Amino acid sequence: MADRVEGATIGILGGTGDQGRGLAHRFARSGLAVVLGSRDAGRARSAADEVGHGVRGATNRDCVLASDLVVIAVPWDGHHALLTSLAADVGERIVVDCVNALGFDKQGAYPLAVDEGSACQQAAALLPTARVTGAFHHLSAVLLKDPTVDEIDSDVMVLGDDRDATDVVIDLAARIPGCRGIYAGRLRNAFQVEALTANLIAVNRRYKAHAGVRVTDVSP
Ligand SMILES: NC(=O)c1ccc[n+]([C@@H]2O[C@H](COP(=O)([O-])OP(=O)(O)OC[C@H]3O[C@@H](n4cnc5c(N)ncnc54)[C@H](OP(=O)(O)O)[C@@H]3O)[C@@H](O)[C@H]2O)c1
Repeated sequence: MADRVEGATIGILGGTGDQGRGLAHRFARSGLAVVLGSRDAGRARSAADEVGHGVRGATNRDCVLASDLVVIAVPWDGHHALLTSLAADVGERIVVDCVNALGFDKQGAYPLAVDEGSACQQAAALLPTARVTGAFHHLSAVLLKDPTVDEIDSDVMVLGDDRDATDVVIDLAARIPGCRGIYAGRLRNAFQVEALTANLIAVNRRYKAHAGVRVTDVSP
């Protein structure tokens, strides 16, 4: 089957952060054009230069406008305000939200109650014309960024209500060596996927790991 993401430009909002730079590294190495977004264009350009592989940097707004598909990789705290400010610019693009609505205290990470149900559902509410999906919640930024890591041993659970959009994102996930994109349900089931990250953080702390997830008995 044809690669449905071939030729697309991927924009990453909050792309100066660990997860944004990690995803940019993998997507750009696979041959896709990537633009890192930031609240500060200079910071975006510095981060893009650091990632290399032709990655460019821009303000978050210019990043959206330059992209076919937009990944949201900002902390939960900044999610609502950023998406509200960019809703008109995002338009009908495919959006991939990898934000985990988590809190942290002395006991570790825990899922937060979100009025809309999850970060993904909040994105869908704030970007009503966009084709919102969720993916990459469980991939470790440390592994994504590390140029000595050739393959990441993990599946990517892809959520969304638009079949074409989730199919594109499944192909985007397959751009990361070792990863498979697996359709994992509609946006109303994103809460569990985001919350599972709290369990993985606990695993990582206990076992000094960068754990991922595998879905068994599936041959997509
Ligand atoms: N780190 C991981 O391993 C990992 C794995 C899976 C999913 N995630 C998810 O990915 C998201 C990003 O994680 P991260 O570790 O990369 O976070 P991060 O480094 O703390 O932040 C990413 C970027 O977001 C921007 N930002 C920070 N606060 C903001 C605000 N209030 N409004 C708008 N932009 C803001 C900053 O860029 P500028 O200052 O340049 O604008 C920052 O570099 C999180 O929601 C996390 O749950 C992370």
